[in-house]
Amino acid sequence: MEYNNILIDYAGDIATIVINRPSKLNALNKETIRELHKAFKELDGDGEVKVILITGSGEKAFVAGADIAEFSDFSVAEGEKLAADGQERLFNFVEQLSTPVIAAVNGFALGGGLELAMACHFRVAGRNAKMGLPEVSLGLIPGYGGTQRLPQLVGKGRAMEMIMTAGMIDAGRALDFGLVNHVVAQEELLEYCKKLAKKISNNSTVAISHAIKAVNDGFKNSVNGYASEIKAFGDCFGTADFKEGTTAFLEKRKANFPGA
Ligand code: COA
Repeated sequence: MEYNNILIDYAGDIATIVINRPSKLNALNKETIRELHKAFKELDGDGEVKVILITGSGEKAFVAGADIAEFSDFSVAEGEKLAADGQERLFNFVEQLSTPVIAAVNGFALGGGLELAMACHFRVAGRNAKMGLPEVSLGLIPGYGGTQRLPQLVGKGRAMEMIMTAGMIDAGRALDFGLVNHVVAQEELLEYCKKLAKKISNNSTVAISHAIKAVNDGFKNSVNGYASEIKAFGDCFGTADFKEGTTAFLEKRKANFPGA
């Protein structure tokens, strides 16, 4: 598929999506959000792809936010629709994807950029990364899930402070906060993420997709996460991956998961 604002690079069973609007610090305009939705959907349905990485092009930014130029004259109804559509098409979609998604935060991750990184299953930052939710400095609040996912990841008090001050934190502080799992040298960021992805891809993709769902369900008010876990655990027993994983263990060999 042809894209105007993103690039996709394949390396074995790992696909890397690169948001490619460096002159706008990779700001998320509507077209980019549409393209990201398509790309995630396509890669999730590609049996060869076991892990997806997402990063920004250039040295400076992961994503510097939603494209401010696009919504500066919006009405109340248009604003609400912008948030609802974006959440559905991209942010919730990524969070619920059955293929693991890792954000490689290679610079500014602000507003919608941090919200995108937070919707990914986990995050690794380059040392120059800067993260924040600056929306209140524009007379807005985060609209792509930031008021919900930031407190989940860093705790309510820290999230409140970050949102109210509109300030940025550096990679070290983000690591202290648990907002990112690792901080590595900028030039090693993608290779480091690929190594993590490789470890993931050696495991059962089916089991991983069940685990993603069970973890996510624990954060939904309407769903009992423990009940989801029990159901998903049971379902694993009906998979070929379970047969292969347990057989390989008992035969003292490495599992070769069929992915079903
Ligand atoms: N939306 C639209 N355009 C953006 C953008 C955004 N969120 N963030 C950066 N850009 C554009 C700038 O307008 C500029 O475009 P131009 O060269 O055509 O004028 C280009 O990207 C480079 O940005 P610039 O501000 O010149 O870079 P900088 O190094 O001086 O500052 C930032 C970097 C990230 C601090 C600054 O760009 C910024 O504050 N961006 C907005 C962050 C934000 O509020 N995001 C939340 C949106 S809800």
